[in-house]
Amino acid sequence: MTETTELYPGKELKALTVGIIGGTGAQGTGLGYRLAKAGFKVIIGSRDGAKAVSTAAEIGNGITGADNTECAAKSDLVIIAVPWDSHKESLTSLKNELAGKVVIDCVNPMGFDAGGAFPLAVAEGSACAQAQGILAESYVVTAFNHVSAVLLSDQSLAEIDIDIMVVGDHKPATDLVQQMVDQIAGMRGIYAGKMRNAGQVEALTANLISMNRRYKTHAGVRVIGVN
Ligand SMILES: NC(=O)c1ccc[n+]([C@@H]2O[C@H](COP(=O)([O-])OP(=O)(O)OC[C@H]3O[C@@H](n4cnc5c(N)ncnc54)[C@H](OP(=O)(O)O)[C@@H]3O)[C@@H](O)[C@H]2O)c1
Repeated sequence: MTETTELYPGKELKALTVGIIGGTGAQGTGLGYRLAKAGFKVIIGSRDGAKAVSTAAEIGNGITGADNTECAAKSDLVIIAVPWDSHKESLTSLKNELAGKVVIDCVNPMGFDAGGAFPLAVAEGSACAQAQGILAESYVVTAFNHVSAVLLSDQSLAEIDIDIMVVGDHKPATDLVQQMVDQIAGMRGIYAGKMRNAGQVEALTANLISMNRRYKTHAGVRVIGVN
């Protein structure tokens, strides 16, 4: 895709509509809540439009709901928050609606067994790379992999103390996502490399889940030395 410095000409950051595919789930509702609190217009997406509308009403804060296709079509920027098992199929079905848009992938290819969580091998190298391979006309960025849905949805928390690693090949897109993250109370977006480095960011989630189980917490990451 051609490099552009102005991805959404004439639009202010907070005027962007953020759609969330799989937005009825734990991560999607949490991100939707935080983004709406930060001032973005949010559309929750679902395979079932009626379910999206009722989930949106439950979250409140001006959030609306639509089926995933309408959500992707009406949004400027779209977060993918579906399970890894349905990642490829979901993206393939939305390829046209997502063309020309920034797509934020927070999907962690993860397995669980008696030993806990572990990262799954992905033929393309990462969920992010798989997404970009399918969405050739979109700007795919990985972010929000490490933030717990439980914290995101906890309305007693005014802010979430965490850094969000932002990964992708297209600098205007990663810059935009960092700016967006910075609007969410407590969060800081940090550029963490190109797409070829997305796999270990996704995989690190298995370490965080191990910490959560051992220490009964919702662990996140803070990077030192970046001001
Ligand atoms: N949970 C966390 O703390 C967390 C943290 C960081 C990243 N993530 C990542 O975020 C993603 C979503 O996590 P989650 O915990 O929110 O998952 P989830 O609740 O299991 O699923 C999210 C939504 O995906 C949709 N979905 C389920 N199966 C589907 C299928 N076969 N095809 C299409 N859509 C399907 C469902 O929405 P509809 O039924 O309404 O379509 C569901 O509400 C995961 O990939 C995960 O790795 C999660």
